[in-house]
Amino acid sequence: MSTRHFLTLMDLSRDELHAIIQRAIALKNSPMLHNDSLQHKTLAMIFEKSSTRTRVAFEVAMAQLGGSSLFLSNNDTQLGRGEPLEDTARVISRMVDFVTIRTFEHSKLELFAQHSRVPVINALSDDFHPCQLLADMQTYFEHRGDIQGKRVTWVGDGHNMCQSYMNAAEQFDFELTIACPEGFDPDPALMQARSQRVRLVRNPHEAVRDADLVATDVWSSMGQEEERLKRLQVFADYQVDEEMMALAKSDALFFHCLPAHRGEEVSAGVLDAPDSVVWDEAENRLHTKKALLEFLCKP
Ligand code: CP
Ligand code: NVA
Repeated sequence: MSTRHFLTLMDLSRDELHAIIQRAIALKNSPMLHNDSLQHKTLAMIFEKSSTRTRVAFEVAMAQLGGSSLFLSNNDTQLGRGEPLEDTARVISRMVDFVTIRTFEHSKLELFAQHSRVPVINALSDDFHPCQLLADMQTYFEHRGDIQGKRVTWVGDGHNMCQSYMNAAEQFDFELTIACPEGFDPDPALMQARSQRVRLVRNPHEAVRDADLVATDVWSSMGQEEERLKRLQVFADYQVDEEMMALAKSDALFFHCLPAHRGEEVSAGVLDAPDSVVWDEAENRLHTKKALLEFLCKP
């Protein structure tokens, strides 16, 4: 069978994704379950952008399941001195069991995967952050049950997290309403492909009405730092605050992949609410990583 990669949520079937979520929940509830399932396995981690959650989750997941990981920042490898990505993929994938990459262009992940003998996992690209969505789906399932048929609203930039929610809408069968300012829409081809489940509304207050879940992300992602001042102005009406959440269903959840900027995309009151589940969402990065790694190393 050809090597399985996880570059977007579309690389796995619906059943496989649901099985990973259920496995993550089981691993969370019984931490000693199969604590040697990745014994003698090694994960190489190529990071061209900063990370707290993704890096820690991968390293801890490998350690707790009996394997090991190698953190490779761009500056420390020959990639930083211009060795072709294809050659790096050919070499590293002869030595390790999985590779995860956090980078800018999604095409780099695809190129690496084409030349890799082992599974490649997207640890975030400018287009998609599928690992985050595994944790988000686990969090929804844990707190509210199946997300199928639910109303999810994305408020903010139509960037990597928003586009990952678009794929999740397809794979987990929910309705997604996106509220973003003009000029910050998701990729039109993806909008077209997901048009059965995804709609775009400019007014965020209208978009969150009766939502079961409201999700957002920073207004300036990594690589967009120079646009920060302009984005603060353009997104000013898109802050998820208590007033906006009051328009959603009374038991609506709020998700944020973190790191968050209180007073920008989310108010401190929403993020730090006593019943906020964003810390569970962050913790679930670990459990879903374990379930994903176990899935990808199955023969
Ligand atoms: N949410 C997320 O991916 O966080 P990090 O950038 O800290 O990995
Ligand atoms: N959209 C953010 C997500 C960070 C986890 C970024 O790409 O920087």
